Amino acid sequence: MENAPVMIAPSLLAANFLELGKEVEMVNRSEADWFHLDVMDGRFVPNISYGLPVIAQIKKLARKPCDVHLMIEEPEKYAAEFKKAGADILTVHAEACIHLHRNIQQIKSLGMKAGVALNPHTPAVMLENVIRDIDVVLVMSVNPGFGGQTFIEQTYQKIRQVRQLIKDNQATALIEVDGGISTENAGQLVQAGANVLVAGSSIFASADPEKTIAALKRGAL
Ligand code: DX5
Ligand code: ZN
Repeated sequence: MENAPVMIAPSLLAANFLELGKEVEMVNRSEADWFHLDVMDGRFVPNISYGLPVIAQIKKLARKPCDVHLMIEEPEKYAAEFKKAGADILTVHAEACIHLHRNIQQIKSLGMKAGVALNPHTPAVMLENVIRDIDVVLVMSVNPGFGGQTFIEQTYQKIRQVRQLIKDNQATALIEVDGGISTENAGQLVQAGANVLVAGSSIFASADPEKTIAALKRGAL
């Protein structure tokens, strides 16, 4: 996986919700690899986004895997519901899980890929004892809760630390990075070891989102 071209996961949080079907079709047509779907509960993060019914509708049109990022407390209560709604990859926050190992096993036993997200303050080493069980490590490059925030520069070092952790444990997890990503920093993120780049506002606020997706992919090669 390490030498595969970078994957792009547009975050629909920045999409035009009045035209959601068209936005999904745009991502289908584009060179993007996954749909990144952000779920916020107003408790784990200070914002509320969308939830199960919206994801179920997106799933009807989506022709690429749905990567669901849960920014919620007690994610284990809803894992089965997100599977039903169409999640292919389900990511929980390490900070929100008292029994992270159990939560990862639950996600996998439901037939989804398991992701674990790390807030900017959470060290990579937190995942040392579960890294071999994880399919995706989601490195947050902003504090979760809002689109359009400024990229935190410390993220490059965090990516290198996660990459080292994966190597030291002969693990196969992909490294996904989320927040403040644009064609300005995509190349450097890939160089640091990222496999998947999430981008919301830099894609959907651009004049030609399909072109921006292609540029993120090319710029990062
Ligand atoms: C932030 C979300 C992100 C967000 C990224 O809490 O997890 O996925 O949509 O948005 P941009 O790319 O605008 O920073
Ligand atoms: Zn996200």
